[in-house]
Amino acid sequence: MKKLILIAILLGLAPVVLASGHGGYPLDKADVDLENKDSLQRGAKMFVNYCMGCHSMRYMRYNRVAKDLGIPEDIAKQDLIFVTDENGDKVKIGTLMKNAMREKYAKEAFGTKIPDLTLEARVRGADWLYTYLRTFYLDDSRPTGVNNAVFHNVGMPHVLWKLQGLQKAKIEEYEDHEGNKHHRIVGFEMVQPGTMTGPEYDKAVRDLVNFLVYMGEPVKLERMKLGVYVLLFLAVFFVLAYFLKKEYWKDVH
Ligand code: HEC
Repeated sequence: MKKLILIAILLGLAPVVLASGHGGYPLDKADVDLENKDSLQRGAKMFVNYCMGCHSMRYMRYNRVAKDLGIPEDIAKQDLIFVTDENGDKVKIGTLMKNAMREKYAKEAFGTKIPDLTLEARVRGADWLYTYLRTFYLDDSRPTGVNNAVFHNVGMPHVLWKLQGLQKAKIEEYEDHEGNKHHRIVGFEMVQPGTMTGPEYDKAVRDLVNFLVYMGEPVKLERMKLGVYVLLFLAVFFVLAYFLKKEYWKDVH
């Protein structure tokens, strides 16, 4: 019985432990709303304009996005498709959202692979993404000139800097209980304002993250449903097994 409780506790803790791998910087709440089509449409536009030069969504087709987000196909062609084929024509609306960046080139330019983002929100979670995209800060020691509060020594440049502006991190020194010194980021200070105010930028990033969450969502919804059934089954099974055991052992002493 004790063991079972322990296992249950460990299973319950697993998501917490996995989600906390962000170097101690507290995550801000993304508060995305998948029902908000306007927000999703704005997010999609941002993604194709600012992210798809490097990242792909290779499990998603443009026309599926257009349909899910309620964007008419002709407008989707105009607003979402910037990738061209070998003849220089825009790719067809039924194409997967891949881009033309070669892995080898990415490796040379950024020193790392550029991850596909279709399932990114499932891997990192919305709050992590929301915090990540808002916490790039100036760092001379990095080849890109920036670092990130939740992704230490990230290889990605701050591609949204024109919107957000450039900020410095306020760093505080602290001691752990063994007396070792550490540094942590406690805030930011804008040194060069961008075209957006702080709240405007937060909203734009929220739209973008909303879109990323939507991308990973169809499968996520299924998984969550399945997870509930599995847990229900386990709960019922546990009760049955417990009484069965009691029944079997009641005369044995
Ligand atoms: C100039 C190329 C480039 C652009 C444009 C770009 N990224 Fe990146 N991105 C990268 C690289 C390179 C990495 C890998 C960083 C690493 O592993 O150190 C990365 C990593 C990421 C990660 C972390 C992936 C992980 O490891 O979990 C996220 C999230 C991300 N990018 C989101 C975005 C979003 C959203 C946009 C658009 C606003 C964007 N990126 C635009 C180059 C780019």
